[in-house]
Amino acid sequence: MTLGTDPVTLDTTGETSPYPYFEYMRRTDPVWHGTFMDHSQMPEELRPNDEWVLFGYDGVFQAFRDDRVFTSAAYDKSIGLVMGHTILAMGGKEHHDHRSLVAKAFRATAMERWEPSVIGPVCNQLIDEIKYQGHADLVKALTFEFPTRIISVLLGLPPEDLDMFRRLSLDLISIPTDIVAGLNAAAELHGYFLNQVEQRRRKRTDDIIGDLVAAEIDGEKLTDEAIIAFLRLLLPAGLETTYRSSGNLLYLLLTHPEQLSMVRQDRSLIPMAIEEGLRVETPLTMVMRTTTEEIKVGDKTIPADAQVDLCMGSANRDESRWTDANKFDIRRPRQAHIAFAGGIHMCLGMHLARMETQVMLNSLLDRVNDLTFVPDDGSGDEARIVGLTFRSPNKLPVTFTPAA
Ligand code: HEM
Repeated sequence: MTLGTDPVTLDTTGETSPYPYFEYMRRTDPVWHGTFMDHSQMPEELRPNDEWVLFGYDGVFQAFRDDRVFTSAAYDKSIGLVMGHTILAMGGKEHHDHRSLVAKAFRATAMERWEPSVIGPVCNQLIDEIKYQGHADLVKALTFEFPTRIISVLLGLPPEDLDMFRRLSLDLISIPTDIVAGLNAAAELHGYFLNQVEQRRRKRTDDIIGDLVAAEIDGEKLTDEAIIAFLRLLLPAGLETTYRSSGNLLYLLLTHPEQLSMVRQDRSLIPMAIEEGLRVETPLTMVMRTTTEEIKVGDKTIPADAQVDLCMGSANRDESRWTDANKFDIRRPRQAHIAFAGGIHMCLGMHLARMETQVMLNSLLDRVNDLTFVPDDGSGDEARIVGLTFRSPNKLPVTFTPAA
């Protein structure tokens, strides 16, 4: 399906870049009364009353900050059907209480403990496995695998369960394309996590599931269902986004070899490269909210009970905030992007995501030299970033030599 005014159309399959369309909409109709979503398969009674998309930075920022008017409660009726009632769908005191309980494990200071003990060894081992091969697809060998292994260790899952956990995680996050596999994985993960929770109710462990079992709100422990909902949320929220964003960063560096060599020579540039990668190729380009009352955004009035898509991918290239906004430039002056959202639902795992990506990139640059992108590997399917809502490279074929 294509949307828009010729020649600027949106390819909703995600096969071609949505950015020319986003730019066109930012310039012509940044608070758009319309939708990308195809509701033709949805029963009439479930279709939203009214739909809008925000393309500009200011509109998206306003909606994230005003969580009373722009509520995320509708997640209960979408991903909630699979994950259960998660903090993403909560608001007010309920959200505050649940978030405070889990936030401790994800603070920047907690990362200092995990970096040498978990994150470094996982990345080093994965790269050592391919180091002497001379070539690899970094999506298969690295970008999906490292966040999966890291989260499984942080949760405290037994190493022998890794293959099963990887399979269930993949099935769960593939729910938009394979609903049956996704629902089966959700059910299987429920049983699996319940068993892990029960073990920790008998004997406490020093891991995220152990922390959740010990956590209390007003003297009440979290229920098994609340813990399992949170754990299942971590797979799309924590694993999928990190694998996509790290793939995007590698793609951007490989296609800008002069910036890759700057980073190789001066590793203090890595944090800037990570933020610029998240800005230019935002892995999750939009999220949804519902208005609880009429609200003015820019020069338009959105009515109550409207579904509003906040297009962070577009907001992150807003030309009123960044000069030459489409350009990947790790040296550009620092200006906060909105890839991790904002307001009360701002990403809980952003410090972990940044740390994981930093360690992965350092480890790769330490272990291999002459890293070269081979976008056309002869298969007829060129390596590129694809997707509309979720974006990342279809593959990352590279050649390299082992570092001494
Ligand atoms: C680069 C990687 C990541 C990106 C781009 C990202 C992006 C986001 C965004 C946009 C939201 C807000 C969604 C909404 O409001 O509808 C969010 C929330 C969340 N993220 Fe992340 N995320 C990343 C990594 C992680 C990691 C590594 C974890 C944990 C392991 C994590 C856990 C969460 C949780 C639990 C929430 C819900 C917070 C709340 O509702 O209060 N994320 N993330």
